[in-house]
Amino acid sequence: MAFPESRPRRLRRTAALRRLVAETRLSVDDLVAPLFVREGIDEPQPVASLPGVVQHTRASLRNEVAALRDLGVPAVILFGVPERKDAEGSEAWNPDGVVQVALKDLRDEVGDDVVLMADLCVDEYTDHGHCGILDGHGSVDNDATLELYARAAVAQADAGAAVTAPSGMMDGQVAAIRSALDGAGHDQVAVLAYAAKYASALYGPFRDAVDVEIADGGDRKGYQQDPPNAREALLEVQADLDEGADMVMVKPALAYLDVIADVRAAVDVPVAAYHVSGEFAMVQAAAANGWLDGDAVGMEHLLSIRRAGADMVLTYLARRAAELLG
Ligand code: PBG
Repeated sequence: MAFPESRPRRLRRTAALRRLVAETRLSVDDLVAPLFVREGIDEPQPVASLPGVVQHTRASLRNEVAALRDLGVPAVILFGVPERKDAEGSEAWNPDGVVQVALKDLRDEVGDDVVLMADLCVDEYTDHGHCGILDGHGSVDNDATLELYARAAVAQADAGAAVTAPSGMMDGQVAAIRSALDGAGHDQVAVLAYAAKYASALYGPFRDAVDVEIADGGDRKGYQQDPPNAREALLEVQADLDEGADMVMVKPALAYLDVIADVRAAVDVPVAAYHVSGEFAMVQAAAANGWLDGDAVGMEHLLSIRRAGADMVLTYLARRAAELLG
């Protein structure tokens, strides 16, 4: 047949042809592995709703990051599970807090071979589970929270973080963190802003992984973005860039591919997307039932997030994807 529309099919005939004309590629270089480290445990603890993901001990975290380095994964992002929680989340800036000691371990273990990122929020550290300090009415006090984030950013940088990633969706958080870092001599520490972060039901398994329950059946709809809004994401992203963000993130990923594409078109800084816990858990659950091929669907997810425009993907599939890509 000589129809012009036969052209794409001719180019699909062999694996080599498909490889040659692929518009999007997924590489190990695009992957960021989220990792959990828990204080006061002797053995890694599995997370039931995230099959294959564990809460690490300091020692098992070191081993995992060394293994990721050997597989070529360029970056990890750490989340801490502290033994003690309080109203302010003070373990988030304690120099001996779980993420800070883990960062020091990892600096020793892998140096600059792996980009050490630290999630910056206080929800894992507060006894009420919110991402900031509460005012007298049970709402998060934006401006008082910025001071806590500034302390946590400096503690993370002191401990060896190369990138701090504020995920609390407070207004002005990037500016507050940038100025605190610069004031403490950490002008080379970069900020990856969770810029367009939606109040999503897909974070459920993550909250199991960090032992967070929001007090009184609360939610984060007062500070995270509302799922119907896409244009608003560009305002959030622009605000974070104006405040000095080096990279911006869209989260979750698959239900927000349109937002990733819009952000990619609007900015020239690196764009990250977070394939979140619920997105991972759905694939694992279906695969465990034999309902789909988990590896194939996982790789399709990651490729699609790249196709939408993300430069890097935070994903619990990082290690498996690196093995499959290797
Ligand atoms: C907040 C934070 C959350 C996630 C990353 N950082 C949870 C939340 O906003 O409630 C979710 C990540 C995931 O679901 O994989 N510290």
